[in-house]
Amino acid sequence: MVKPLRKAVLPVAGLGTRFLPATKAMPKEMLPVVDKPLIQYAVDEARAAGIEQFCMVTGRGKTALIDHFDIAFELEATLAERNKREALDLLRSEAMAPGSISTVRQQVPLGLGHAIWCARTFIGDDPFAILLPDDLVLSDTPCMAQLAQVHHETGGNVVAISEVPREQTNRYGILKTGETSGGRVEVKGLVEKPAPQDAPSNLSIIGRYILLPEVVHHLSQMERGAGDEVQLTDAMSKLIGHAPFHGLKFTGTRFDCGDKVGFLEAQIAFALARPDLGPSVREFLKKYVNS
Ligand code: UTP
Repeated sequence: MVKPLRKAVLPVAGLGTRFLPATKAMPKEMLPVVDKPLIQYAVDEARAAGIEQFCMVTGRGKTALIDHFDIAFELEATLAERNKREALDLLRSEAMAPGSISTVRQQVPLGLGHAIWCARTFIGDDPFAILLPDDLVLSDTPCMAQLAQVHHETGGNVVAISEVPREQTNRYGILKTGETSGGRVEVKGLVEKPAPQDAPSNLSIIGRYILLPEVVHHLSQMERGAGDEVQLTDAMSKLIGHAPFHGLKFTGTRFDCGDKVGFLEAQIAFALARPDLGPSVREFLKKYVNS
């Protein structure tokens, strides 16, 4: 019997140096795509997969993320007074259940693996999801719901994967693949940021994972990997062979919003997908691409 997936860890303790100066006084995860901050996309996606409990791994200067999930009483009162029904309904529809979101602090950003380890008490003995808010997926069925379906059927560990150009394998966690059936790929090995000539495939893990709690034990060894960071990929590779481990070629388009070009592309794609904005954005884009 597969234990149901109810928990998600959201690592948000990175420095966001690629977005300076925007991220000097504001966390990267509060950057909006159209009108919603990245962190809210991640939480909405997780909730659509049945996840009810959240743990944000934060660091210094990240209080806006915590405030974002609070009830803004004064704002709500003002909106009600001014009869701004639509805005009020929007805020209320996104409200979190009391006690459903907690935070832990990663005092020093020693890497993604270390960030997940900081959430070990929250994780306990349960399978858990990880969503990196700077990876955004545009899809009909939310990406995490697609992973949760596989997890429900196979148990074990499931990661979202996508093809990357060979010459870019040194930026990602790369899979060594086993049997493939439809979009599901058996994971036989994992390597963090291999040089193109050493990469076992061009299938990379993106920022959506469902992992068994045993990964925490491997993280607690605090082994340093690529970039001298505690790498989640290295700890995950130690789970292979002990429980099912699948990669899912999810349906949808992934945008790397930690990168300027990826972030700008996400703005355009998400705006074009919106019925209220799509037509006018399409219209003004013509002005720029034709000149
Ligand atoms: P990135 O590699 O994008 O790093 O982290 P970053 O610091 O956020 O951004 P740059 O490269 O300086 O611009 C990937 C994810 O892992 C989290 C980040 O918050 C982001 O969600 N992370 C990374 C941590 O929580 N702690 C870490 O020590 C490292």
